[in-house]
Amino acid sequence: MAFDAEAIRKDFPILSRQVNGKPLVYLDSAASAQKPRAMIEAMTHAMEYSYANVHRGLHTLANETTDAYEAARRKAAAFINAAETEIVFTKGGTEAVNLVAAGIGSWLQPGDEIVLSQMEHHANIVPWHFLRERKGVVLKWVPVLDDGSLDLEAYQALLGPKTKVVALSHMSNVLGTINDAKALARMAHEAGALVLFDGCQAIVHKPVDVKDIDADFYVFSGHKLYGPTGIGILYGKADKLAALPPYQGGGEMIGAVSMDEITYADPPHRFEAGTPPILEAIGLGAAIDWLAGQDRAAIAEHEHHLYAHVRERLQGFNWLRVIGEAPGKGAILSFTVDGAHAHDVAQILDRYGVAVRAGTHCAEPLMRRFGVTSSARASFALYNTLEEADAFVDALTKTQAFFA
Ligand code: ALA
Repeated sequence: MAFDAEAIRKDFPILSRQVNGKPLVYLDSAASAQKPRAMIEAMTHAMEYSYANVHRGLHTLANETTDAYEAARRKAAAFINAAETEIVFTKGGTEAVNLVAAGIGSWLQPGDEIVLSQMEHHANIVPWHFLRERKGVVLKWVPVLDDGSLDLEAYQALLGPKTKVVALSHMSNVLGTINDAKALARMAHEAGALVLFDGCQAIVHKPVDVKDIDADFYVFSGHKLYGPTGIGILYGKADKLAALPPYQGGGEMIGAVSMDEITYADPPHRFEAGTPPILEAIGLGAAIDWLAGQDRAAIAEHEHHLYAHVRERLQGFNWLRVIGEAPGKGAILSFTVDGAHAHDVAQILDRYGVAVRAGTHCAEPLMRRFGVTSSARASFALYNTLEEADAFVDALTKTQAFFA
């Protein structure tokens, strides 16, 4: 049976609102996804009924909240086939990459090499630039081919004895390209490097098995996964997490503290200093429960169908340039309109109730690679419909008329 997007929309209260007098057509889920009622209610329930600080208390509310927080960790672990001790709650995907980079950076030497790609989001670039600036490590870049796929021959050629870390996107937030994480990890390991994947986009659209991929680290954020902001997941193999020094210091990440010395807790608590994002973790757990209860293969097929439909309708629009056409790509359409700045395109689309993102998408090296300063981006999610896909193309056609 085909996926019923109309039915699922009823789980998302915001989708019934209007924008500028038109039904909202939300095509900006790659920036942040809308929230299902189950997730909203889980957070509200915690705040209204069972809330206190975690891991510290001996009273009922503290124990209940600790149970809910740790249950969320187990849900995240099961979702990606990890052990719960391999799941660190962070405040987002960005903090997760920073945590790993800072830890690994403490043992890297000048001249050590880190392999990134031209399609990385700044979250998976800037923390490594810090190591270039502060430790003298060398950044190497896997080129992106014209269709938006990674140049695998160049990747292989970049790997060598000096490669200590490979940090790559599992799915590009601009191109929609889905990389073969398992193959990339195998090649990195053959070179003796650690491998981290930025899974912020991929995890939303496909099941992820970190053991099958053989990732050393895998990061994603909650808010793109139909969960709340302010929460992310760092997965690390048990031995790899154990080798990382603490990232932030504070309560709950210690073994014992005296005036002369300190010992640290084991992972994951070593990396969760201070009061963690408790409500956000509970919300993410509920979002994961909700999503895991859906037919994910049918969702992927639905999203692909929406993208293919839009792409088909755009054929022959000679004023439009699509950036990223890699085989098997996900439902992200980045584009430019001749003679129009992407910001203007997005603002005019908004008049028709259509929400898209425009700008550099936190991926400036990629923008340069394709010779553009910005693009507009329509990103599709499970709650989008064929009618919305058509509304987008119709609104885009009217928008282009302003610039013709
Ligand atoms: N990384 C988010 C995006 O691609 C914010 O829009």
